[in-house]
Amino acid sequence: MSERNSQRTSPASGGPMGRGPMMGQPVEKAKDLRGTFKRLIKYLRPEKYRFIAVFILAIASTLFSIVGPKIMGKATTKLAEGVLAKYAYYIQLYTAIQKKMPVEVISKLKKQPIPCFDFGYIEKILLLLVAFYLISALCSYVMAYIMSSVSQNTVYKMRNDVKDKLDRLPLKYFDQQTHGEILSRVTNDMDNIATTLQQSLTHLITSFVTVAGILIMMLTISPVMTLLALVTLPASMIITAFIAKNSQKFFADQQKCIGELNGHVEEMYSGHKIVKVFGHEEDSIAKFKGINKRLYGVGWKAQFMSGIIFPALNFVNNIGYVVICVVGGLLVAKRKIEIGDIQAFIQYMRQFTQPIIQVANIANVLQSTAASAERVFEIMDEVEQIPDKEDTKVIKFPKGRLTFEHVKFSYKEETPLIEDLNLDIKEGSTIAIVGPTGAGKTTLVNLIMRFYEIQGGRITIDGVDIRDLKRGDLRTMFGMVLQDTWLFNGTIRDNIAYGCDGVTEEEIINAAKAANAHHFIRTLPGGYETVLNEEASNISQGQKQLLTIARAILADPAILILDEATSNIDTRTEVLIQRAMANLMKGRTCFVIAHRLSTIRFADLILVMNKGAIIEQGNHEELLARGGFYAELYNSQFTGGNLNDKIV
Ligand SMILES: Nc1ncnc2c1ncn2[C@@H]1O[C@H](COP(=O)(O)OP(=O)(O)O)[C@@H](O)[C@H]1O
Ligand SMILES: [Mg+2]
Repeated sequence: MSERNSQRTSPASGGPMGRGPMMGQPVEKAKDLRGTFKRLIKYLRPEKYRFIAVFILAIASTLFSIVGPKIMGKATTKLAEGVLAKYAYYIQLYTAIQKKMPVEVISKLKKQPIPCFDFGYIEKILLLLVAFYLISALCSYVMAYIMSSVSQNTVYKMRNDVKDKLDRLPLKYFDQQTHGEILSRVTNDMDNIATTLQQSLTHLITSFVTVAGILIMMLTISPVMTLLALVTLPASMIITAFIAKNSQKFFADQQKCIGELNGHVEEMYSGHKIVKVFGHEEDSIAKFKGINKRLYGVGWKAQFMSGIIFPALNFVNNIGYVVICVVGGLLVAKRKIEIGDIQAFIQYMRQFTQPIIQVANIANVLQSTAASAERVFEIMDEVEQIPDKEDTKVIKFPKGRLTFEHVKFSYKEETPLIEDLNLDIKEGSTIAIVGPTGAGKTTLVNLIMRFYEIQGGRITIDGVDIRDLKRGDLRTMFGMVLQDTWLFNGTIRDNIAYGCDGVTEEEIINAAKAANAHHFIRTLPGGYETVLNEEASNISQGQKQLLTIARAILADPAILILDEATSNIDTRTEVLIQRAMANLMKGRTCFVIAHRLSTIRFADLILVMNKGAIIEQGNHEELLARGGFYAELYNSQFTGGNLNDKIV
């Protein structure tokens, strides 16, 4: 997962152009670009009017800023005219004196007012410029404001839809996906979409308007100069494309190395103890060094390659400016254009390439956004679990009688597991399920709880098909204690009371007492208020298990499932837990899945499973007398053999 994640997040890390993949970095592509965009646009449809407003504002903002250089050029021309007039006057005076012209001519010249700058005109122009820039800024401001609400609204709706969808997906879906993968879709990918909506779309509009606007402005100044300027453009594009193409390979290698490095570090630190115990540190360090060295190499090349793009572009552009200045100067001399026009033109040239590069970048961003949106839509397209029936039945006071009738089930079509399973379990009895790992014990439990849909036959509780019940109602009849204890970050009290609203302090303590947990909780410094941390590593495995049993006792379910609840626990704690479980099992239907057969000797019915089928059933004495699979198992355990070695 780490590899995938690191790849996923990096495109957003931003290159020299701000957001978006670094230049030349490979982009993740959507499989169906058009279809995905169509769906995305459907989400945006309610925001139609705001979009139009944004569109208009973007155009206005760009136009008002684009005329800037042209106006500024006017000021420059005026300034230059002033300077020139002054010089012309002095030169005239100077030559008159040099050529010893008559005194009257010279004094007449001297009496003339000395030409000066037309400050009034320049002031007017500058004020106009300020006004234009202000309007432009205001438009961008309002545009960003509207766009924020558009993007947040859209993603808000999307997130809600995904959340609702996830609630309706069957467990089967979650088996096929890692948690990280789902998480990444709901967070990273959503973020990606939001940022694109917020930034890239408006950038796209302004970039297009800017390019078109600048082109027009340039043409109004001088078609010849425009033509020359456009020659440098393909040159810079070829350079960019060339370097980008060459650096893609290094970026891909870099990503791969980062993935490897992450994987290695994760592996080594999650298995820290094992690595140390097996004396694998040296190897691990050597491997790390190897990957790190490779990463250095490719990272260096990738960064360097993408780093030289901008200096190279600058070089080409600067050459372009020189050409324009020379040609522009000639044109001014011929009085085809004004001096301020050259200045305006160069300013336009400087602004010209940026939006083009930006559009290229946005194309990448849009592609990765489409890939993100596609992943989100993939979730939305998953097959949902069969909805609860309209006219569901309700079992008011569940007794806990359970039957399996010709049940057929497999997780994957190609590997059949349960073919034809029949069972009749009386209310209040204790049923033990034994068998090797992978026999289908947990599967049986999953089916009763309707975590998975059976493919044939039916399962009933108190005579009612479980498919006629609401899933929620069905599951409240059960209590579960599993091998993997699930506790959350909160107080011990809250953990015990989980799922039971409005229980009293006394009930919680009684449950803890029945679970043999009260004593150890009392000895904790915080008592029932002790806060369990994320992994609940501040209490022992056995203590955690006692808490989950207390939780099940408090919930007081009609049917109880204990799936290898004592497998991870030392024998002394097991005795405690067994006593607690005996309390728990009183008067209800219980399924006990256990490895240690001593735990289940007193069960009313023992089901021996292998390969998805029940191969023997009966109570302990009957099964022993039969001398079959169970008897062999039992004897092997008590003569020191290992259960799994014998049966697998
Ligand atoms: N979620 C799942 N998806 C696909 N196959 C599964 C899933 N859970 C279990 N299996 C397979 O089904 C078989 C029975 O598993 P399970 O009921 O968990 O065995 P156990 O008896 O050890 O509890 C095994 O072969 C296992 O690999
Ligand atoms: Mg199991």
